[in-house]
Amino acid sequence: MSPSKTVLITGCSSGIGYHAAHALRDHGYHVLATARKQRDVLRLKEEAFAAYPLDLDDSASIARAVMWAQEKSGGRLYALFNNGAYGQPGAVEDLSREVLRAQFETNLFGTHELTVKLLPMMIAAGEGRIIQNSSLLGFAAMPYRGAYNASKFALEGLSDTLRLELEGTGVYVSIIEPGPIRSRFRSNALKKFLENIDRNGSRFSKFYEKKLAQLRSSEDVLFTLGPEAVTAALLDALERPKPKVRYRVTLPTHLFYWLKKCLPERVLDGVLRRVG
Ligand SMILES: NC(=O)c1ccc[n+]([C@@H]2O[C@H](COP(=O)([O-])OP(=O)(O)OC[C@H]3O[C@@H](n4cnc5c(N)ncnc54)[C@H](OP(=O)(O)O)[C@@H]3O)[C@@H](O)[C@H]2O)c1
Repeated sequence: MSPSKTVLITGCSSGIGYHAAHALRDHGYHVLATARKQRDVLRLKEEAFAAYPLDLDDSASIARAVMWAQEKSGGRLYALFNNGAYGQPGAVEDLSREVLRAQFETNLFGTHELTVKLLPMMIAAGEGRIIQNSSLLGFAAMPYRGAYNASKFALEGLSDTLRLELEGTGVYVSIIEPGPIRSRFRSNALKKFLENIDRNGSRFSKFYEKKLAQLRSSEDVLFTLGPEAVTAALLDALERPKPKVRYRVTLPTHLFYWLKKCLPERVLDGVLRRVG
C-alpha cells in the first residue's frame, strides 16, 4: 500500500474512531482525525494528528471540515471512514419526533452530507473507499433500539444504493457490522436515554429500570471485543483491491446473520425479544 494515502475518520474522540486513527497511522496512512468537541480535537493534535472539528449535526461544520480535508489531502482523499454516531435507546412509542430526527441527523443525514461532499475528490482520482460503520443492529431489529435500528438500517440501504451507483468509478463502498465493541457507546447511550425518554410515564417503566442498570454497568456483555476487531475489517476494506461489501465483526453479528437467513420470522422474533 502507498504510505501517503489520506483517510478521514469521523468520531475520533473515543472508542472505534480513536483506535482506528492510531492503527491507520501505524500502518502508514495519513490520517485526518475529526471530532465533535474542541477539547478532543486539541487532544488529538497533542497526539500529533492532523485534527479538526466536525459535528455531523451541523452543515456549516461539515462544509468547513471538507475544505480542510481538501487542503490537507492536496485534493486526493483516498478514503472516508464514517464512524461517528450514537445510540438512542427507548421503546418506539416513547420516541418523540425530535428525538428520532436527532438520531437520523447524526447517524444518517450528517454522514450522507459529508460523504457526498467528499466523493467528487475520489471520483476525480478514479479511486476511493467509503467505509460505513453500521452495526449488527443495521440488519437485526431489537426491542427498545428502534431509533438506532432505523438509522442504521437506513444507512445500510443508502450505502447499498450508493455502491450500485458508483460502479465503474473506482470508488468502493463497504459496510462494517460490529456487534458489541468496548467503547464509550454504552455510556453515551445512557446519557441520551436519561435526557430524552420519559421513563416513569412509560408503559415500559419496569423494564427501563433493568435497562438503566445494564447501561450503567461497566461489565462487558457476552462476546464483546475490543475496537481492534473493527480496525482489522477497516484495514481490509482499505487495502483489498476489491473490498468486501460487508464485514461482519463479532460472534453475535455472524450468529444473527445466519439466524435471520434460516429461522422463520416469528421464531426469530422470539430470539430477538429475549436478547434485546
Ligand atoms: N460499541 C459498539 O458496541 C458498537 C457496535 C456496533 C456499531 N457501533 C458503531 O461504531 C461507531 C463508533 O462508536 P463507538 O462504539 O466507538 O462509540 P463511542 O465511543 O461512543 O464513539 C462514538 C463517536 O461518535 C461521535 N459522535 C457522536 N455524535 C456525533 C456528531 N454529531 N458528530 C460527530 N461525531 C459524533 C462521538 O463524539 P463525542 O465524544 O463528541 O460524543 C464519538 O467520537 C458508531 O457508528 C456506532 O454506531 C458500535
